[in-house]
Amino acid sequence: MMANLVDFKIDGKECMSEEGQYLLSAAKDNGVYIPSLCNYEGIKPKGSCRMCTVRVNGNLTTACTTRVFDGLEVDNMTDELEGLRKGIVELMFTEGNHFCPSCEKSGFCELQALGYRYRIGAPRFPYLSPNRPVESQNPKIMKDQNRCILCKRCIRAIKNDEGKSLFAFKNRGYKVVISCDTDLAAGISDEMAQKAMDICPVGAILKKRKGFNVPIGNRPFDKREIGSEVGALR
Ligand code: FES
Repeated sequence: MMANLVDFKIDGKECMSEEGQYLLSAAKDNGVYIPSLCNYEGIKPKGSCRMCTVRVNGNLTTACTTRVFDGLEVDNMTDELEGLRKGIVELMFTEGNHFCPSCEKSGFCELQALGYRYRIGAPRFPYLSPNRPVESQNPKIMKDQNRCILCKRCIRAIKNDEGKSLFAFKNRGYKVVISCDTDLAAGISDEMAQKAMDICPVGAILKKRKGFNVPIGNRPFDKREIGSEVGALR
């Protein structure tokens, strides 16, 4: 059966996609970049980071959880929305401990790449410098809560054969951390450990015995600005 196609506009640009597609991916298919962070293609969107906030028919909403319909009018690259997104990135940097120069995900990290995109030198907000644990008991992976941005990608994507998540939220409010189920993760395969590292947008989950294996200059964000693969950035 043929999918129903709908017309919509992003910043005045005529776009077309299948009815019901998520706006973030529909925009991408039409060569329009909407900044995002917690979203990951192929896993159910959560709308937790708010980086993809757009105005849809005048109202603020997240593009990763909004489905397109005919006649949708979207504001994306406005000063208001870009300012809001920059603020989110600044808050993430000040809320955790992000040691970019010594992080194995440097050059691959989406938060770092967004920091460059928004030209963040010194954040406007004070650093909280929290005391957070690094867990390294698992034979294959290391979890560093200092860098975690609570995007839930690992919770949504890293599951065992029975569909149980290896990761979960623990605690409440500002004390929330990602915890790794020691029993479920005890027999984690190399492939799954690699997937966990790859799906993490920052350096909070790292595969052991593998580090800095892409030289500086050849890492993805050494070569391109985040989002430039999708289309015009501003
Ligand atoms: Fe949409 Fe995080 S990417 S809320």
